[in-house]
Amino acid sequence: MTTDPAKSIPAFYAGQSILLTGATGFLGKVFIEKVLRSCPDIREIFLLMRPKKGFTIKERLKEILNLPLYERLREERFSIFEKLIPISGNVSEKELGLSDADRQMLIERVTIIIHGAASVRFNDSLKHAILSNTRATRDICILAQSMKNLKALVYVSTAFTHVNNPFIEEKMYPPIADWRKMIDVAESLDEHTLNIFTAKCLDYAPNTYIFSKNLAESVIQDYSFSFPCAIVRPSMVYPSMEEPFPGWVDNIYGPIGLTIGGGKGIIRVAYGNKDVIEDIVPVDIVINAILVVSWKIGVTTFSAGSIFVSNCTSQKPMTYQSIGLICFVVVDEVPLEGNVWIPSVTFIDNFTLFYLLTMLLHILPATLIDMILNFSGRRPILVRLQRNLYVANRAVGYFACNDWKFSNTNSLALISSIPPDNRDLFSFDYSDFNIKEYLTNCVIGVKKFLLHEDMNRLDAARAHKKSMQEFLTCHFLPLMSRFNMVATSTQES
Ligand SMILES: NC(=O)c1ccc[n+]([C@@H]2O[C@H](COP(=O)([O-])OP(=O)(O)OC[C@H]3O[C@@H](n4cnc5c(N)ncnc54)[C@H](OP(=O)(O)O)[C@@H]3O)[C@@H](O)[C@H]2O)c1
Repeated sequence: MTTDPAKSIPAFYAGQSILLTGATGFLGKVFIEKVLRSCPDIREIFLLMRPKKGFTIKERLKEILNLPLYERLREERFSIFEKLIPISGNVSEKELGLSDADRQMLIERVTIIIHGAASVRFNDSLKHAILSNTRATRDICILAQSMKNLKALVYVSTAFTHVNNPFIEEKMYPPIADWRKMIDVAESLDEHTLNIFTAKCLDYAPNTYIFSKNLAESVIQDYSFSFPCAIVRPSMVYPSMEEPFPGWVDNIYGPIGLTIGGGKGIIRVAYGNKDVIEDIVPVDIVINAILVVSWKIGVTTFSAGSIFVSNCTSQKPMTYQSIGLICFVVVDEVPLEGNVWIPSVTFIDNFTLFYLLTMLLHILPATLIDMILNFSGRRPILVRLQRNLYVANRAVGYFACNDWKFSNTNSLALISSIPPDNRDLFSFDYSDFNIKEYLTNCVIGVKKFLLHEDMNRLDAARAHKKSMQEFLTCHFLPLMSRFNMVATSTQES
């Protein structure tokens, strides 16, 4: 085994001290697992975390390490968790909310920064988005500047930061606003005044999240004169493909929420265009890309102002309709429990029609069922659930109604530069993956880890789905098919 960092990725990471932000998030947790398993000689990983819901950062870390994600590490090398050092901080506070002692320790020891923390809500106030995503990135860069041995900073951006271009290359684009001015504005104006200002900003970006992430990329560009930087831009991150096992997922965000709603038959219509590409990428692929990018810039001689950009997007692009069709075959074989309708979603890109059908097919039945629940002394939940799904659907609707193409020249070159001995562990080439197998694992992951369904009850779920299907076929579907003929601009998927 070579110890030359240029020829071996684990050799590069041996002895390094990583600062990870966003450690408690979907990507962060998978990152921690991967590094500890594949680069066991890492010196330490500092996890910038904040206390939440009455739990201290130590309690939060303990809970995270009990997740099924870490089962293999718990069994094989429990002591490796000692390399995780939680540090109390809050990236949206000034100077990241770090204590002086922690800041000094990071300055002395950190050699690699992975900045993934972000407020990912599309409808955040502009103030919160700028402070959490743009100013936080600036403050991470200020900290990075004072680090004594920094080899690499990787910023986790998003593939949709430059949506005004139909073809998005792996390069820097001019920012949509001046990040310094926007931070000043966010710091000095109150929420109410800023909310008025938001409409102006949203002329250039679909939401405050994208706006603030776009500015954050420009922060990284300006600091790339001081230390080696890279930007990784994932599209929509989906459950793991292989590592540490297929189907790992633990957060319900837009597309996953809609998949669950569709799979249970709660969602009948979705705002989107069936012919648009649903650009998804498995989480383990994104993590490998981050690790390889950080390795590459860490072993490359620093050149001020140069910045490596990798679009971490789908390597086998498919439309919403084609992914939807496979998903519905999968949920037919592996149904979610408690289906209320036959899984089938109609994509509609006409907002007025989508709104009307939402009222008719989602809100009206939910209201009736909630009334029945109320009368029978049970808690009504469906209207609230449908309202949340509607908000999620509107938020992702912009991305489901528009198409972008992504260049992957840099990413392909990077994949081919991975040392042959490391390809099994670190490659992020998945162009030959089997989509049906992958989506089946995703559905199983959703059932196990998000819905906490017991896979031993699969036969019961199938029986429930069958009897519900028979009932609907007899009583409702003749009526529905007549209704569907009215919605001529829509397509079943
Ligand atoms: N998931 C996707 O589909 C996707 C796609 C493209 C890009 N990305 C990018 O990937 C990165 C990670 O996303 P994710 O999916 O892992 O998101 P996530 O699950 O929502 O996690 C967000 C992480 O950021 C942390 N965070 C947020 N605000 C913070 C604050 N003020 N101080 C300290 N920590 C804070 C959260 O900590 P708490 O647990 O304390 O809230 C959490 O650890 C983000 O930068 C996101 O923009 C994600």
